[in-house]
Amino acid sequence: MTADSTGAPQSGRTIQSLPPLGLGTWQNDDSDQCSESVKQALELGYRHIDTAQIYRNEAAVGAGIEQAAVDREDIVLATKVWNDNLAHDDVISSTEESLDRLGVAYVDLLYVHWPVDSFDPETTLSAFAELQERGLIKHVGLSNFTPELLDAVQETAPVEIDAVQVECHPLLQQDALREYCARHDIELVAYSPLARGDVFDIPELTNIADAHGVSEAQVSLAWLDAHDVCSIPKATGRDHIVDNFAATSLSLTQEQVATIDAIDHEKRLVDPSFAPSSW
Ligand SMILES: NC(=O)c1ccc[n+]([C@@H]2O[C@H](COP(=O)([O-])OP(=O)(O)OC[C@H]3O[C@@H](n4cnc5c(N)ncnc54)[C@H](OP(=O)(O)O)[C@@H]3O)[C@@H](O)[C@H]2O)c1
Repeated sequence: MTADSTGAPQSGRTIQSLPPLGLGTWQNDDSDQCSESVKQALELGYRHIDTAQIYRNEAAVGAGIEQAAVDREDIVLATKVWNDNLAHDDVISSTEESLDRLGVAYVDLLYVHWPVDSFDPETTLSAFAELQERGLIKHVGLSNFTPELLDAVQETAPVEIDAVQVECHPLLQQDALREYCARHDIELVAYSPLARGDVFDIPELTNIADAHGVSEAQVSLAWLDAHDVCSIPKATGRDHIVDNFAATSLSLTQEQVATIDAIDHEKRLVDPSFAPSSW
């Protein structure tokens, strides 16, 4: 990590081992299919797997990791503490249960899934600090937080925030959060990086995809990478898993990145009733 003349870090990658592309697993609900997706992804070269307590597939994700011919220590495994479990003791017990279901001794990244009312920066995150001290989690993440909420957390948090996961794609570009994370040396992870399928209906992406002979999915993932944002596209079958991984070899020109930057149409796809009111 280097800094420019203002002291701002120039690269957003703070968890040096966090690969630019991971596999998302929300709604990969069939256990056998989910295990197979995880196994295939790992054997194709993915090294980052994203799950959550609320996805109810941690056991299947763990089985996929167990079945893959890849060492556990080479994999970045992330899960998220659900909204009901944010009291101190519930963070501890629910994370221990996640580890049991996953069949692993630690997760690399544990997120607070949503900044709901039961989240308290001091008490919730003191439990994260304890888990870190016990070696049960390596890094701490916050999901669905805004720059304003992050500022408030950072004032009192008893632990370093390593990663922020939010919806991010060409239709929701998250400029302010990208700038915030770069300035604070926090890894930004894009969820729904294919806009849940909507990237296939963006003419600018189709033009760029056609120019490279690749899919719009790859273009969206390469655009995120050009901005130092990690992506965790959900892909179930081998064709999508392979297609998305090919984005790691795709480089967009500066002009193509600028064309996507200039898309002036905003669409948020994940917006539950308990989402922050200010986003
Ligand atoms: N922190 C949070 O609150 C939060 C919220 C939402 C999501 N997430 C995480 O982010 C992950 C990804 O987000 P997401 O699942 O919402 O949406 P996404 O990754 O943007 O899109 C997934 C959809 O795109 C399809 N797809 C994947 N690769 C494709 C390809 N190459 N060509 C055509 N279609 C393709 C998938 O189909 P198939 O399944 O058939 O392959 C699926 O229908 C989630 O799985 C989850 O791990 C986190």
